[in-house]
Amino acid sequence: MAQFKLPKNSQIRVGKTWPKPDAKNVRKFQIYRWSPDDGENPRIDTYYLDMDKCGPMVLDALIKIKNEVDPTLTFRRSCREGICGSCAMNINGINRLACIYGLDEIKDATVKINPLPHMPVVKDLVPDLTNFYAQHASIMPWLETKTNTPEKEWRQSIEDRKKLDGLYECVMCASCSTSCPSYWWNGDKYLGPAALLHAYRWIIDSRDEATGERLDQLEDPFKLYRCHTIMNCTKTCPKGLNPAKAIAEVKKMMVERIV
Ligand code: SF4
Ligand code: FES
Repeated sequence: MAQFKLPKNSQIRVGKTWPKPDAKNVRKFQIYRWSPDDGENPRIDTYYLDMDKCGPMVLDALIKIKNEVDPTLTFRRSCREGICGSCAMNINGINRLACIYGLDEIKDATVKINPLPHMPVVKDLVPDLTNFYAQHASIMPWLETKTNTPEKEWRQSIEDRKKLDGLYECVMCASCSTSCPSYWWNGDKYLGPAALLHAYRWIIDSRDEATGERLDQLEDPFKLYRCHTIMNCTKTCPKGLNPAKAIAEVKKMMVERIV
């Protein structure tokens, strides 16, 4: 069995240890497993890979395990280049996109992979993002206009377009929101950094005509103001974005429209 110490009274079991390959460059992986179908508690399974035959990213290792060791291992991935946001998971304590996180960036000998923290789990490394997506939809992530639609397109100056840099690149991976203690405790009412970054992106879009309505919607003790500037969101964002700054800008706009 794996030499893995679990906290006292933990409901997580020590799971299966898969055979070690006969190779020189072997690395150990401990991976969270849970299935809704077997009625069992979650467990941590241990795998070993020959790193000389494995790609450089954490996702390469997961795909290798699934293809060559244990086909039941479940995780989400699609683009393999940090664009779709679907492979976000907690890797050695940090929320990361597995496809762009290099195995050599992990200094610990063992690679420990868990689903995004504090989210319901669908299976293994797949979190249930239903609430997260509903919160995103609630901020109206589209251009809201009242004037007549122009014949060709809604025009925007180069300067105004530039204001959206650092915001439009968000891939909705949920790494930021699920690293935020305020979101852990009040995720049903606090919108969280990802949804608020998107709210700000539409508030400052020069073409949008619902700025007042958007700010009104955020005027609530929980939706916006449960952000206590802990900064985990900015620290963890695998795309290098700054949701904490976006939230601070929205708070500033709230104050400015009162005074
Ligand atoms: S702000 Fe960053 S961490 Fe948050 S959802 Fe967007 S890409 Fe992911
Ligand atoms: S697989 Fe698309 S972001 Fe990782």
